[in-house]
Amino acid sequence: MDRLIHLPLLMILGCLVLTGPVNAVETDRCPPTQEDEMGPFYRPGAPLRSVVGQGHVLLGTVKAAVDCEPIAAALIEFWMTGPDGWYDDAYRAAVITGQSGTYRFESHYPGLYASRPAHIHIRVSAEGFETLTTQYYLQPDQTDGHFDLVLRSRAEGAPASTNPPPRE
Ligand SMILES: [Fe+2]
Repeated sequence: MDRLIHLPLLMILGCLVLTGPVNAVETDRCPPTQEDEMGPFYRPGAPLRSVVGQGHVLLGTVKAAVDCEPIAAALIEFWMTGPDGWYDDAYRAAVITGQSGTYRFESHYPGLYASRPAHIHIRVSAEGFETLTTQYYLQPDQTDGHFDLVLRSRAEGAPASTNPPPRE
């Protein structure tokens, strides 16, 4: 009788030991980057380039939340205001990550508009992952920053990213 009661309990505990803690550790190590507003100024098809100005360098790595591994061939799109605080095509860019998943984006310090803090808009898409839209916020007079972009795996059966290819 005791055996009949304990066997299912042991099986459930065994499953928890095998799956629960592993997922928790992975989530703690590389939590997905927080989503942020896209805003009204996104335009698809930003040109492939990593420099749109001078004065601030942003570095980071595109990673998978599930295992913290770098993601190659991720498309990162940037858009931001010019020094005068207006959005313009001159301040749009796209880069594609290599095997290391790293990126470098050089720009001026974003011009301020309305009451918003200085920020750079970022959108990341990669095969097999959910597209991430976020923003990077700068402190006053900041000249460099580090911002890893951690993506969630796309659920099986979910539609592919609708990102158009970047212009050359
Ligand atoms: Fe903005």
